[in-house]
Amino acid sequence: MKNKISPSILSADFGKLNQEIKEVEKYADSLHIDVMDGHFVSNISYGSVVVKDIKTKLPMDCHLMTEEPIKYAKDFSKHVNRIFFHAELFRNKNELLKAIKKIKSLKVKVGLAINPDKPVSLILSVMKEIDAVLIMSVYAGFGGQKFMPEVLKKVEILREKGFKKEIVIDGGINEKTIKLAKNSGANVFVVGSSIFGEKDRKKAIQKLNEALK
Ligand code: DX5
Ligand code: ZN
Repeated sequence: MKNKISPSILSADFGKLNQEIKEVEKYADSLHIDVMDGHFVSNISYGSVVVKDIKTKLPMDCHLMTEEPIKYAKDFSKHVNRIFFHAELFRNKNELLKAIKKIKSLKVKVGLAINPDKPVSLILSVMKEIDAVLIMSVYAGFGGQKFMPEVLKKVEILREKGFKKEIVIDGGINEKTIKLAKNSGANVFVVGSSIFGEKDRKKAIQKLNEALK
């Protein structure tokens, strides 16, 4: 499976967002769009009115850190390729399946995300119905946090149980932690501060790709 670098625009300068995206576009594989509602997480980031103005040829992943993913998914589905929402918002398999179906009906790919302290079992129970999984390696809420290696067990479990689609790892990824994530079975690496916190974005992405070899 192809390894992919997915810059998270949360760490970009929003005053010149499209320029920031241009700087990573040639070297990245997709863009990661973090949406925060001030409820599911305390931060507020941006909504679909900002995402609609993003100019890029890269496929976009929308990571909804919102209490009501279904309420917002429609607006984002017009602009992005894949929508991730948090599995722990749903109490049982049936509710989760209903939400997956709803998002699928918007003609986008659908993925489930999960915070570090939540078990992967809920995702396992519906893994045949989804296109991808996003394992949080920091607590959802803001960029620049320290990577939590213990979450990699979840990636290993998903692969052991036969999940063959993309597994995204999100949070605290740098040249060192990207190797650990890759070895556990993840293939999409979300990177915020280790790309947009660096002056030379091309070099930053090259270093990450180098670490994956
Ligand atoms: C955290 C977000 C991440 C974050 C990653 O809530 O989901 O996508 O932007 O940023 P870094 O790479 O700085 O941890
Ligand atoms: Zn994210």
